[in-house]
Amino acid sequence: MKSIVQVDNVKKVYKKSQSPALKNLSFSIQEGEFVGIMGPSGSGKTTVLNVISTLDQATGGMIKITGNDITKMNANELSDFRAKKLGFIFQDFNLLENLSLYENIALPLSLQGVSSKKIKAGVERVSSILAISELLSKYPSEVSGGQKQRAAAARAIVHDPAIILADEPTGALDSKNAKSLLDALLSLNQEQGASILMVTHDAYSASYCQRIIFIRDGELYKEIHRSCSREEFYKEILDVLANIGTEFA
Ligand SMILES: Nc1ncnc2c1ncn2[C@@H]1O[C@H](COP(=O)(O)OP(=O)(O)O)[C@@H](O)[C@H]1O
Ligand SMILES: [Mg+2]
Repeated sequence: MKSIVQVDNVKKVYKKSQSPALKNLSFSIQEGEFVGIMGPSGSGKTTVLNVISTLDQATGGMIKITGNDITKMNANELSDFRAKKLGFIFQDFNLLENLSLYENIALPLSLQGVSSKKIKAGVERVSSILAISELLSKYPSEVSGGQKQRAAAARAIVHDPAIILADEPTGALDSKNAKSLLDALLSLNQEQGASILMVTHDAYSASYCQRIIFIRDGELYKEIHRSCSREEFYKEILDVLANIGTEFA
């Protein structure tokens, strides 16, 4: 199996902060995996996602994505790498309000100068997977939260990134829309072979993953693989959370 993300002894110390947010954290993600990161509030989940997503810099250690060491890239190389290799889904959707859903989804391709014919084919392909083909001419303000988040998922996958990075993607959704987004992510993973790394504090969302990495105080706490039904995995996750023993937020 090909390694997509390799996090090796990563440290992160924020300026003006005494204790490190990440301490010698190591883990890897293989091609085609759907991996969750869980941990108590303040354990470093967002920090680890930010340093992998090149939005922030690690203080030490190495992070390789598709074999490229992103800790050694300069700003230009990073922005190029981010645009081509990474797909993002944020909690608050981050769709541009003055662009239609079609234009929002097309953005990663437009920014790379892809021809409009290829853009059309790409947008139509991902929109059909995410069941939003009928909504492409609408603006974000005209669709529901769940539809916005599916458009955000379409935008995250349209340029065929090496990995989709999602920070609490269901955080702003009600349970019905959360389920439909999770089903969409699962089908991107299983049918399109998309590799996904999702940070979540929600055990139900996490139960869609094949593997969960639990962190506590910036360190690896435990890793579990799913070898049972989703319902049983959900219970297994709740057990680990109860044992970490800190309140989740
Ligand atoms: N920009 C920042 N400056 C200083 N400290 C930060 C910053 N962002 C996060 N932290 C601290 O780093 C630790 C990890 O935070 P974070 O990664 O946001 O945790 P989580 O996403 O698991 O809740 C916390 O102690 C938090 O207070
Ligand atoms: Mg966070």
